[in-house]
Amino acid sequence: EEPVPRAELLAGVAGKRGLLCLLSDRIDREVLDAAGPNLKVISTMSVGFDHLALDEIKQRGIRVGYTPDVLTDATAELSVALLLSACRRLPEAVEQVKSGGWTTWKPLWMCGYGLSDSTVGIIGLGRIGQAIARRLKPFGVKKFLYTGSRPKPESAAEFEAEFVPLTRLAEESDFIVVTCALTPDTQGMCNKEFFSRMKKTAVFVNTSRGAVVNQEDLYNALAQGQIAAAGLDVTTPEPLPTDHPLLSLKNCVVLPHIGSATYATRSTMAVLAADNLLAGLRGEPMPHELVL
Ligand code: NDP
Ligand code: DGY
Repeated sequence: EEPVPRAELLAGVAGKRGLLCLLSDRIDREVLDAAGPNLKVISTMSVGFDHLALDEIKQRGIRVGYTPDVLTDATAELSVALLLSACRRLPEAVEQVKSGGWTTWKPLWMCGYGLSDSTVGIIGLGRIGQAIARRLKPFGVKKFLYTGSRPKPESAAEFEAEFVPLTRLAEESDFIVVTCALTPDTQGMCNKEFFSRMKKTAVFVNTSRGAVVNQEDLYNALAQGQIAAAGLDVTTPEPLPTDHPLLSLKNCVVLPHIGSATYATRSTMAVLAADNLLAGLRGEPMPHELVL
């Protein structure tokens, strides 16, 4: 259950043909050198692969397995839960009940923002982005916008989603959900300039990777009321230190990277990761191989 300590990983991987890792294991040149030329397969129990030094891995002719699709529904479901928690202020409201802040029913007390008639912007309309849009549509969303490296008319058709530049998405969305992969292009993409374009009433949700967001800029935007609220399932670092400024804000809901955390999904991910590894070791096609 616990990740292998780095020193143990470096010692244990020496001479091995296969490596099964978690997203918290950084598989870089140091690990690859420690493994040596016998290493033929890396299987990660995750769909994200930003923890793998892919150029180095490719150069060494090592195959990579990962776990797409099987966690899409669970992660989309959690993303919707996080969005609703942030926009309807659920953690704050629960706290009010417990602390005696709930005195009587008041017209404007604990009000937030709803999805009905709203514009939702999705950064990265991939598997999870589409699954989120599918779940949000019945809430009465009026318009979906999305951005990415290129338009995806087939994926967007179901939601009549419009491909727009990031700046327009920031300016026009009432809710922004980040579901892109972490790459050199997306690192720090949600920064001061991005948040300054957002509406004061808008809600920002990130379930991709923490490093897509400049957290200091997000903190300032939330603290200064430049945006209404945020929900984060992923942060930099993980775990987020308990004295981190973001945790002092009432309008920021932070979860401990639990997007795919249902018993069924984690079990399926583990089996798929093992199957990828075994297929790779046998020199057979993997159920899900990352094309490098
Ligand atoms: P996909 O590959 O299906 O989707 C990733 C999307 O990122 C693509 O649609 C891609 O769009 C988009 N993207 C790439 N570059 C950019 C860019 N510059 N700007 C905007 N979008 C971009 O992956 P999944 O949907 O399966 O997973 C997405 C990510 O979610 C994972 O990489 C992982 O980091 C994270 N994740 C987090 C979980 C959690 O527990 N919180 C659980 C599971 C995943 P295009 O094709 O146009 O490049
Ligand atoms: C992934 O798979 O990349 C998630 O972050 C955890 O399920």
